[in-house]
Amino acid sequence: MSRERWNEVDHFIERQLLGGDPALEAALQSSADAGLPAIAVSPAQGRLLALIARIHGAERILELGTLGGYSTILFARTLPAAGCLITLELNSDYADVARANIARAGLERLVEIRVGPALDSLQRLAQEHGEPFDLVFIDADKASTPAYFAATLELTRAGGVIVVDNVVRDGALADPDTADAGARGMRRFHELLAAEPRVTATTIQTVGVKGYDGFTVALVEDPARS
Ligand code: SAH
Ligand code: DHB
Ligand code: MG
Repeated sequence: MSRERWNEVDHFIERQLLGGDPALEAALQSSADAGLPAIAVSPAQGRLLALIARIHGAERILELGTLGGYSTILFARTLPAAGCLITLELNSDYADVARANIARAGLERLVEIRVGPALDSLQRLAQEHGEPFDLVFIDADKASTPAYFAATLELTRAGGVIVVDNVVRDGALADPDTADAGARGMRRFHELLAAEPRVTATTIQTVGVKGYDGFTVALVEDPARS
């Protein structure tokens, strides 16, 4: 099966199910114009993220890795008026692009971008003792995913969901000798999942316009329900 066929199928899905989306297309265009890497979730993946948020009824969302705000916009649109999304981004130039894209989409009142290393921002969030999050999307530097999972688990309510992008990395997830720091991080992340009684998780492999990769969905179990 060729990569061209994966792309054709993603474009078929976009035509049949996703339709045009001016705010999202403008966000991608301004991101490209500003020289950001083209690594946002695909349109079909983005629709899935928004569906998960809606199915879950998420009102407080935490995102790690804003880039130009593409996934941020998709999540923020699902929020009720009293909802909120906090998104963490290392690169202040990327955050500026995202802020403009989020404003153009009319979502600035729902979204707070925190600039800096995500681990520092997570430590600050823990100190603030705010309401826990309903949904977390981990999509920043891949090597730090184990630390991001450990930190965000403490910030997620029982019954909450943690979604992690880019966990399969061209299949390197299954290679114990991989030299790729991101893939090593994702292997370690799976060890943490396996040892963590508070979550039930699975990982789904994906192909498409972003190549061969995958994502993990983890449910934070509610002790009162088991
Ligand atoms: N979620 C976005 C894509 C994020 S790409 C989308 O799908 O639209 C990954 C992002 O993580 C990049 O913008 C990168 O600058 C950011 N990043 C890398 N290291 C980081 C760190 N230590 N803390 C916070 N963000 C980081
Ligand atoms: C990269 C990051 C992503 O979030 C992604 O979806 C794909 C690639 C990267 O850093 O290479
Ligand atoms: Mg990603």
